[in-house]
Amino acid sequence: LDIVHIAVEMAPIAKVGGLGDVVTSLSRAVQEAGHNVEVVLPKYDSLNYHYIHDLREVQAFHFGGTRVRVWNGKVEGLPVHFLEPENGMFWVGCIYGRRDDGPRFGFFCHAALEFLRQSGKHVDILHCHDWSSAPVAWLFNEGYRLNNMHDARIVFSIHNLEFGAPLIGRAMANAHMATTVSPTYAREVSGNGVIAPHLHKFHGIRNGIDPDIWDPYTDPFIPMAYSTENVTEGKRAAKEELRRRLGLRHDDRPMLGIITRLTAQKGINLIKHGIYRTLERGGQVVLLGSAPDPRVQNDFVNLSNQLNQSHGDMARLCLAYDEPLSHLIYAGCDFILIPSIFEPCGLTQLTAMRYGAIPVVRKTGGLNDTVFDVDHDQDRAREQGLSVNGFSFEAPDASGLDYALNRAISAWYEARGWFEGLCRQVMEQDWTWNRPALDYIELYYGAKKKP
Ligand code: ADP
Ligand code: GLC
Repeated sequence: LDIVHIAVEMAPIAKVGGLGDVVTSLSRAVQEAGHNVEVVLPKYDSLNYHYIHDLREVQAFHFGGTRVRVWNGKVEGLPVHFLEPENGMFWVGCIYGRRDDGPRFGFFCHAALEFLRQSGKHVDILHCHDWSSAPVAWLFNEGYRLNNMHDARIVFSIHNLEFGAPLIGRAMANAHMATTVSPTYAREVSGNGVIAPHLHKFHGIRNGIDPDIWDPYTDPFIPMAYSTENVTEGKRAAKEELRRRLGLRHDDRPMLGIITRLTAQKGINLIKHGIYRTLERGGQVVLLGSAPDPRVQNDFVNLSNQLNQSHGDMARLCLAYDEPLSHLIYAGCDFILIPSIFEPCGLTQLTAMRYGAIPVVRKTGGLNDTVFDVDHDQDRAREQGLSVNGFSFEAPDASGLDYALNRAISAWYEARGWFEGLCRQVMEQDWTWNRPALDYIELYYGAKKKP
């Protein structure tokens, strides 16, 4: 199949959250299965050029009152077409966060279709994502289903229904097939007014992670390569390095990590509660997070100052976006806390497991599909051919969180041998795209059969 993703994020060159990871890692997995996968992306001034290979300008066209320059490059082995409107709408130093995000991405979607039409490239599947490339779905039906795109079908993926519901609804109506990023989230949103009329073509396929990008055996950002063979030593070295780098005390204690966008979705009050509960239990905490909302950012700056005073060698809040540091945290922590209020899929629990860090999560969305509580989910895990792999809770409040976190920390103190066995066990679970990529390919063929 000839598959083209039209997207506004792509890891590691233009990533804000998990959407960027998925565009790259799903594309790579489908490419490895023998299909042609390409990506069309805006040429932001904020791209991380370090990861773009063979970048060259190839053509230009006039569209919507401006000249659009087209560049080709390779990112993680994927061909990428960058569109650069000369009116400078993507030269604004960021991906999102401006009042004109809607019109800017609307323009991008239209220009992407125009570029594909002019290129003459054969297309089987146009895969678009969330509100930001939703317009592709109806613009295609309104005028691009011709010539080289005569065979094309639209697949639309919802990564987060919280944003841009009207655009998402319109894309749902126009797409040949639609997905969201886990089976549980698909069920949770099935009653939503923009989804409910389209359940016949709506599928929940859980996300995966890229096993080459996230691999403790080859990771350049951690001090010692490790696998299941030497996970205890490897994680100890990473923990020591993390403590050294952040100025935390070196002794025998559990370490809790939190790596997240700081937004209401992620359970801000529960995150704060988890920090204090862990400290009360003698554990250390590292949080890596950034808040798009300046009020939330301020709030965490205050919390960080307070903690530096009261628990200077026990907790560190790093209020930034820092990819290399995130690798060291996954490797150096015993637990990763994800107390989300809702979570379409979530990638951090999957990455945590790959690095032998045990997820402590709220049972919602994709967290419910990927984390199986050691005390309660044996049967559910077995049905998936898996063993239990973490700690979870349901009630979105302090006592709910305590229930999971206390069991996790107690296990670390009181049953260290068992805990280390659990770390090895979760590292062996396959949370890559191996299985879900096949589901997408089947879905693409399903879309091709649609009129
Ligand atoms: P979401 O897309 O809702 O933010 P996901 O769990 O799907 O949540 O994806 C988040 C991705 O962003 C993960 O790859 C995680 O490691 C990364 N991430 C989140 N916050 C930071 C940060 N402050 N620094 C580095 N990476 C981060
Ligand atoms: C969204 C969701 C997250 C998901 C990611 C990638 O940002 O919040 O749960 O993992 O998209 O699909």
